Amino acid sequence: MSNLDSKVCLVTGGSSGIGAAVATAFANRGDRVVIADIQDDTGISLAKTLDADYYHLDVTDLMAWTDCVDNTVSKFGRLDVVVNNAGIFRGGTVEEVDLADWNHVLAVNVTGMMFGCKEAIRIMKENPGGPAGSIINVSSIAGLRGLASGVAYCTSKGASTLLTKSVALHCAREYKTIRCNSVHPGAIDTPMNQAAFDASADPKGMRDFFESIQPIGRMITAKEVADGVVFLASDDASSINGTELVIDGGWMAAPNPL
Ligand code: NAI
Repeated sequence: MSNLDSKVCLVTGGSSGIGAAVATAFANRGDRVVIADIQDDTGISLAKTLDADYYHLDVTDLMAWTDCVDNTVSKFGRLDVVVNNAGIFRGGTVEEVDLADWNHVLAVNVTGMMFGCKEAIRIMKENPGGPAGSIINVSSIAGLRGLASGVAYCTSKGASTLLTKSVALHCAREYKTIRCNSVHPGAIDTPMNQAAFDASADPKGMRDFFESIQPIGRMITAKEVADGVVFLASDDASSINGTELVIDGGWMAAPNPL
């Protein structure tokens, strides 16, 4: 994707972590970027830095989604890329999980993602020049294998893996040139993981343990995930549809230590 084919890109959860890195990577390529999040202060501040737009969007609210994408199209005339990245983690095994946590995780990580796909397609199929677009869903390696201590999260990420394939096949059948793929980060150094370390009895020990079980001996940066997202958004990935891009330093290649 060169600066000559600058795109209009909407990134949910773009105020922090992976989403902020994705928004930054798009902006650095000369794309028009809309950061959509509920963390307004950090999102607005990042948007100013990147010369991007910020939109308050709770991804669980379909009407808010409709407003957000309609506003984007009013301003830029099209929508090329939607990155459904907003996500939350709540711990707990199946015996421990709190129902409110379960419902919240599924609402944000699954229903919010489905709304994002639905609204993306509504606009992308009407793009000037014909249907076109790339939808990228941020799942997890927890969407490809089990995670005992996060039953709600693991269930939600598994759902996002197959949600992506359903959307991809629908888009291929109906529009040909709208694609949908999932990205599966491993252990990424973001506020989400830092919060989990901080909540443990030994934050530094927990971080050291996490680093030590990585095949490449370190956590992955949010920018490294963003680089994969930018590739899937680009025309270089024009035949890649319904696939799973694992960005984990090889973690999935090893037996699961968790
Ligand atoms: P983060 O906590 O740094 O960022 C998540 C962003 O989502 C925040 O800005 C938050 O305000 C936003 N968000 C939460 N609920 C929202 C809602 N209802 N509507 C709109 N925005 C909302 O987390 P991180 O690590 O950057 O995670 C991003 C995505 O990557 C998530 O989907 C996560 O599950 C996934 N992921 C993260 C991994 C990691 O190791 N950090 C590993 C695998 C997947």
